[in-house]
Amino acid sequence: MAIKVSENGRLFTLQTKDSSYQMFADSRNVLLHLYYGKKIGEENLSDLIFCTDMGFSGNPEEAGSDRSYSLDTLPQEVPSSGVGDYRDDMVRIRHADGSCAADFRFVSAEVQDGSYRVPGMPALYDTQDEKGETLVITMKEKASDVMLKLFYGVFENQNVITRAARLENHGSSAIALEKMLSFSMDVLFGDYEMVYFAGRHAMERTMERIPVQRAKVEIGSIRGTSSHHYNPAVILCEEGAGEEYGACIGACLAYSGNFVAAAQKDQKNQTRFQMGIHPTQFCFRLEEGEAFDTPQVILSYSGSGFAVLSHQYHEIIREHMCRGAYKHARRPILINNWEATYFDFNEEKILKIAKQASELGIEMLVLDDGWFGKRDDDNSGLGDWYVNEKKMNGTMAQLSSKIHALGMKFGLWFEPEMISEDSDLYRTHPEWALQIPGRVPNRGRNQLVLDMSREDVREYLLERMTTIVREASIDYVKWDMNRSLSDGFSCLLSPEKGGEVYHRFVLGVYDLLERFLAACPNLLLEGCSGGGGRFDAGMMYYSPQIWCSDNTDAINRLSIQYGSSFFYPISTVGAHVSVCPNHQTARTTPFETRGNVALSGSFGYEMDLNKIPDEEKEMVKVQVAAMKNYYDLTHEGLYYRLSAPGKKDFMAWEFVAKDQSRALITLVKTDAQGNPLPVHTKICGLNPGKQYQCKLNGRVASGETWNHAGFTLHQTLREYDSLLIEFAEV
Ligand code: DGJ
Repeated sequence: MAIKVSENGRLFTLQTKDSSYQMFADSRNVLLHLYYGKKIGEENLSDLIFCTDMGFSGNPEEAGSDRSYSLDTLPQEVPSSGVGDYRDDMVRIRHADGSCAADFRFVSAEVQDGSYRVPGMPALYDTQDEKGETLVITMKEKASDVMLKLFYGVFENQNVITRAARLENHGSSAIALEKMLSFSMDVLFGDYEMVYFAGRHAMERTMERIPVQRAKVEIGSIRGTSSHHYNPAVILCEEGAGEEYGACIGACLAYSGNFVAAAQKDQKNQTRFQMGIHPTQFCFRLEEGEAFDTPQVILSYSGSGFAVLSHQYHEIIREHMCRGAYKHARRPILINNWEATYFDFNEEKILKIAKQASELGIEMLVLDDGWFGKRDDDNSGLGDWYVNEKKMNGTMAQLSSKIHALGMKFGLWFEPEMISEDSDLYRTHPEWALQIPGRVPNRGRNQLVLDMSREDVREYLLERMTTIVREASIDYVKWDMNRSLSDGFSCLLSPEKGGEVYHRFVLGVYDLLERFLAACPNLLLEGCSGGGGRFDAGMMYYSPQIWCSDNTDAINRLSIQYGSSFFYPISTVGAHVSVCPNHQTARTTPFETRGNVALSGSFGYEMDLNKIPDEEKEMVKVQVAAMKNYYDLTHEGLYYRLSAPGKKDFMAWEFVAKDQSRALITLVKTDAQGNPLPVHTKICGLNPGKQYQCKLNGRVASGETWNHAGFTLHQTLREYDSLLIEFAEV
């Protein structure tokens, strides 16, 4: 059992392979957070807490005359709100009388076999080989009939503990939930940094780190999606932690909408660490008997740096979050026509691209934006999911059968959540768009957003999408989403429920995704939101790969893919070879390097291969073979970051096969200098007791030697040149 309950059902110790998490319901029924760190025993750690009267930190009634007992200084699992804890709260309730207070006390706990589900939202699931365990702690709000259930899931082998919460209104009056995070934790001691991944469209997930002090460190999104700008995954780590050193706690939210993640030291130097739905644009009304569920946060602990933490996240997301026919099956190498043609295509062009690609070994043609309605640019047509048979010179089924006849699979682009004002759908159903009566809505890419909280909107989309997919035997769908939400008003919701739109939007998207995939179970779904605007664990429940960025420049991709790799398996990272000069940066990089970078992801092309010289066509064949050869490494192997962006004049990373029989290092020269210094890279994860040969220079040494001495390159690379270096057991 990974969950130990002792001391009359009041001490809870969650044990994973290498970590322990402890909570204690004290004599006043406050649920204290005691420990999350390296694996230890099950002794009660309450003694770690030392309380004194700190002044201006008041005392709850249960403290009697004890002025040292304060909700303002105790480390807690569910901090109170409005009644004496002046740090950030986790649950904020506006009661019917207008008061704003929440003060939860422990009632009971129960251990359940298997993982818990989160209604309507993604969550880690059990497999035949591996089941989680669940602890459910029930709390009651002191002065009202509001109950709170805290869910703790334990996946022992991956060192993962999940948290989620459900708030139930058992009272006779409605309440307004103004804030409800997925977790809060007060780390008692230590100095930390917060690592987060920030950026912008086409430049997502750049790693940044900042010390956690009394000024709050907070990131988040209020764009309606998890966003390009901040990713919903952060690390609270010991100061100076690196790939192989330092304690770190990861927090990764399985949610694709507004979120907040924050860490802040309190007056006692305890660090309050929190994550969940962003309270901005959020207010949920609960009538008697109604409940609210938070999304799940996936926590993981590593006592030895980021590499181990990443391995734990990669495995848990790959095995227990990603689903579907392509969870393990090899994904087809695809070619997408977007950068090849943009909107300027017809059947002939598409077939020509497909034919050339199939001759070079590419396995799937993806037809991107522009095949439906009136859609020759990005100003019109969204919502009219009817094939433009004039442009396509026939039905989609006809095109599909021609692609299939080439021996290729066929994929299609949709942007289900959007509507153009210039569309038949909008002319028929203007009320289906999110907009506030009396205000002209903010446009993004000249389009509006559909009100996904509406059942009729989802029904329409489900019917349209499944009909097209079935009629045309579509093998793959790219599900795009090209703007941030605004004007979050749904005309079907009563005024008191106006603050529910952003969350209901996400629930609506999840509902449609679930039903669509149930109707088309063999489909490979690739998520996308202008590239990486919704690159999160929640979406990975539906799409095992996500177009990671609209930026296909191989050099910019180094930092984007580096940042993505901290939490997300490499198999989830959509990565394509495109033409040069690159369309986003105008940079020219060698074709080989573009391939080598894209091979560290779900591999494909984004160009017209008819237009490249013969020697590059030959390179496509080599890359196709490399993708197949290294697939087990890139999609299932252990991944190591060997360098960080901007630190050296090259970037390097490594995959090691699960059985340690071979490894692959990718090395890219990022900067040319006069009188260049030698390139030396570390190597990780080889079996110390085995002998490995470096295929580049034939040298044989033990795994132990390679792991400690690393590898020096005996050649000078030009700027943007790259190498794949394989190490094989001999
Ligand atoms: C944004 C996506 O990221 C691109 O790959 C492409 O699908 C366009 N949208 C199409 O409008």
